[in-house]
Amino acid sequence: MHAAITGWGKCLPPAVLSNRDLSTILDTSDEWIVARTGIRERRISHVPLGELAYVAAMRALACAGLDGGRIELIVFGSCSYDDQVPNMASGIQLRIGAQEAAAYDINTACTSFLYGLSTATALIRTGVVRNALVIGAELISPFMDWGDRDVAVLFGDGAAAVVLEASARAEGLLAEKLGCYGEAREILRVHGMGGRYANRGMLYGITRWQFEGQEIFKRAVQGMSGASAEALARIGARPQDVELVVPHQANLRIIEAVAKRVHVPMERVFVTVQRYGNMSAATVPVALCEALEEGRVRAGALLLMPGFGGGLSFCAHAVRWGERTTALGASSAELPPNERSALELIRDCLARKTRPAPATTEPFA
Ligand code: UT7
Repeated sequence: MHAAITGWGKCLPPAVLSNRDLSTILDTSDEWIVARTGIRERRISHVPLGELAYVAAMRALACAGLDGGRIELIVFGSCSYDDQVPNMASGIQLRIGAQEAAAYDINTACTSFLYGLSTATALIRTGVVRNALVIGAELISPFMDWGDRDVAVLFGDGAAAVVLEASARAEGLLAEKLGCYGEAREILRVHGMGGRYANRGMLYGITRWQFEGQEIFKRAVQGMSGASAEALARIGARPQDVELVVPHQANLRIIEAVAKRVHVPMERVFVTVQRYGNMSAATVPVALCEALEEGRVRAGALLLMPGFGGGLSFCAHAVRWGERTTALGASSAELPPNERSALELIRDCLARKTRPAPATTEPFA
């Protein structure tokens, strides 16, 4: 039994935050950001995470020609929940009418969608469920420290989802390598998100980022390229068999370094980082949707999806595409209209920031 990808849908909030916009509030420039990261602009959401994910989910369901009521499993990959309890997946279950579905969230930071793809595929392969909706969605903007140029220029908001269905054909996720450099977990920490800040006189979500960019860069290249080699080896595939790499999109230089180590030319790598920045768990599924829209995914193609994120988690997934590369239907689901500019939206976050989270890793400091 395999788990074919039969539906895909994305939802990008409309407000665009350009590098030039950022240079009006931070000591940075379009030239620096483009040269060091490849990022030109990113999106800022005017709605909660659940709303972005719901629209993406409805579009993925319509693409698969499946009614929400028939979904048996919902996996919501994210690290920027609207709420921790109740979880995000149960909200999607309610809104799409998947009354019989199991629903859980998964958080491995930027790799959450890919780890969700692994668990959902495994549950289909073992016959626990016959289909699944896997979401990768992230609302980084409310958690961003907009005064810190080291991180504020890198991230954006967005969501996408895929539908998986049991199939007797060898398609969907064929093999993956999952891993984690736990010993390096402190090089990417967001102070202010989590139980150590709750009910201690600090507002949950007032954040300060601990972020060692160069060390993360090295680990990202090492983790993604090593996992890619291993995932391909597990199915006996060579680099030349890979028709398209759809990688996590954090930095163009990281993507180029991984492509070089994996021996796949950049013409066969799909890049969206210039448009959206790093949307964490949403980058791979959004890029997959756009690769399909642009006709870059051929029926039967072998795709490679390397990822890395906080933890530091890393992985690579080898996916065999099925026969259909176009949507069966379209959804009328849309976000509510937005009147405000991206700068106005992030100024809301700045205005609410009164006291930064202390730099502590002690549970009761
Ligand atoms: O999903 C996980 C997310 N994390 C990542 O993807 C991060 C991976 N790391 C990276 O992408 C890169 O390390 C960065 C883009 C974060 C930084 O690029 P870099 O080439 O490693 O730059 P750097 O940290 O070595 O900084 C070079 C200079 C420094 O100035 P000095 O010390 O040379 O005078 C920084 O202070 O650039 C300065 N700088 C900036 N200048 C303008 C740092 N951030 C900025 C900025 N604008 N936004």
